Amino acid sequence: MEYMGNKEYWDKKFVNRKDNPLSPEKSLIDNIIYFKKGTVLDIACGDGRNTLFLLEKDFSVTEIDCSSKALERLSMFAKRKGYLVNTMQMDLGVPDCLYDVGVFDNIVINHYRFSKHLLDNLHF
Ligand SMILES: C[S@@+](CC[C@H](N)C(=O)[O-])C[C@H]1O[C@@H](n2cnc3c(N)ncnc32)[C@H](O)[C@@H]1O
Repeated sequence: MEYMGNKEYWDKKFVNRKDNPLSPEKSLIDNIIYFKKGTVLDIACGDGRNTLFLLEKDFSVTEIDCSSKALERLSMFAKRKGYLVNTMQMDLGVPDCLYDVGVFDNIVINHYRFSKHLLDNLHF
């Protein structure tokens, strides 16, 4: 089976974006009060609009995406603001890819269809 099938598609999208991040998702802004202080795993993070918001709110964020271009942009935007990021390039189509990803206080999955199978990889 071949993975990273989406990488090329998403890389192309991200290289053609403007030189600034989009605004964070409104539902994330509205619900941030319910987050536990500490760490967040941002799954299929894109180029980081939500990660940047979380960093501004003092969370420690780990980001996963298949697109190296998205992660490069995310790192650039974060660096501009003096934030540290922990990006992981990963294909969420790979079975059990999240099995050893670690333990987080919160998980964000925004605009990505997450499979039930992967949900079973996460330990709460
Ligand atoms: C619609 S964007 C959402 C980005 C971000 N969560 C946001 O809300 O701005 C979908 C993201 O999923 C990532 N993605 C798509 N398929 C993936 C896969 N198989 N593994 C990892 N990331 C994937 C894309 O690279 C893209 O960054």
